[in-house]
Amino acid sequence: MIKFPKNFYWGSAISATQSEGASAKDNKTETTWDRWYKEDPYKFYDQIGPELTTNMYENYKEDVKWLKKTGHNSYRTSISWARLIPGGKGEVNQKAVDFYRDYFQRIKDEGVELFVNLFHFDMPIEMQEIGGWTSREVVNHFVEYADTAFKLFGDLVDRWFTFNEPIVHVECQYLNQYHYPAEVNPEKAIQSAFNTQLASSLAIQAFRKHELDSKVGIILNLTPAYSRSSNPNDIEAAKIADLIACKSFLDPSVLGEYPKELVDLLKDYDKLPDYTDEDLEVIKNNTVDFLGVNYYQPLRVKENPYEIKEDAIFLPENFYTPFEMPGRRMNIYRGWEIYPKALYDIAINIRDNYNNIEWLVTENGMGVENEERFRENGQINDHYRIDFFKEHLTELHKGVEEGSNCIGYQVWTFIDCWSWLNAYKNRYGLVELDLDTQERRIKKSGEWFKTLSENNGF
Ligand code: BG6
Repeated sequence: MIKFPKNFYWGSAISATQSEGASAKDNKTETTWDRWYKEDPYKFYDQIGPELTTNMYENYKEDVKWLKKTGHNSYRTSISWARLIPGGKGEVNQKAVDFYRDYFQRIKDEGVELFVNLFHFDMPIEMQEIGGWTSREVVNHFVEYADTAFKLFGDLVDRWFTFNEPIVHVECQYLNQYHYPAEVNPEKAIQSAFNTQLASSLAIQAFRKHELDSKVGIILNLTPAYSRSSNPNDIEAAKIADLIACKSFLDPSVLGEYPKELVDLLKDYDKLPDYTDEDLEVIKNNTVDFLGVNYYQPLRVKENPYEIKEDAIFLPENFYTPFEMPGRRMNIYRGWEIYPKALYDIAINIRDNYNNIEWLVTENGMGVENEERFRENGQINDHYRIDFFKEHLTELHKGVEEGSNCIGYQVWTFIDCWSWLNAYKNRYGLVELDLDTQERRIKKSGEWFKTLSENNGF
């Protein structure tokens, strides 16, 4: 039997926009997602937008009862900035305070530890209109929002996170066009990455002033970058991929400074963002207490074999290209490779290169389409998801056995939720959501997860 250390966290994560719904209710204002859906509904799978999602804003009292039934001793969600402070700045929305306090209190009453994240891809539209993460003003408003959240909910929250997967909103907004405003603008991407890191560090600075009994961290998607071969060009490509995809937030968040190679690379191309020495001091002095790690798929890369024109647009692809390894195992629904061993590699990397900081898996999961076909006697038998968890846990356990300071494993997610542009195409939940009736039913994986948590292993 594989046993995890005592007091190991078992649970799941979700986010405000993906679960709450009520996107225009009780004074909440538009986010970039609400606006994008209004402008371009065809971008969203089956044209399902963020207005209803899993409707936890209405159902939370019932939904939190599923936490215990699925073995949770911890649970993460995020606060919607646009709900708490409509428009992103100024007055606090009392309706939102009432909702979050009651929701959070009920989670605590279930005996579940509460982890709360401040930003999960959901920028209030007014903040985007003044430049989003490329703007200093938005950084300041975010810090005010963070400070307000610490003040209002600090007594209820056990662990805070400043951001979820910050590299994702940077890339998706300004390089890959998966998030609004869907531009391709490397200069904005770089400025937005720096400002996001600064916002995280400033929020941590604000957090410390409250002298709360909780800890603060950041959630990063630490996808290891594996090179196609041992050829020096491929290895160099993987090194750069790692700098951009992982170290760009991992190093400043945990070690307090940017990797020199990343700074040199940007300097060489005259692409450094605007910053001050004072900003670097803030980053240095406000590192995280612990780390959340989301892991779904590895990043496999090879050298870019083409010569880059001198005036070419500055994109990560200039330095490395994705490598589609023959025979790789795929989750065909999401188009992501399944490679559990990466969790072991992540564990060892944190142990050896990041002071063996306390960390936990904050997302891992398998999105599958049309799960209806797996229904047996009324229940979805998602045996593939149980196998997926087991394989990842086996690798994680190896890392823990070898001394990595991992304290928990949370899956994505406890109830089927809305997945951005993919809407409800792929389902991830331990609990099934029937979109037509809004009924909730436990899946096989939900029962399995409860036993896993009770036995602290499998
Ligand atoms: C993570 C995000 O990157 O992946 C979640 O934090 C997201 O918000 C999850 O839902 C799964 O990805 P997707 O695109 O299938 O929803």
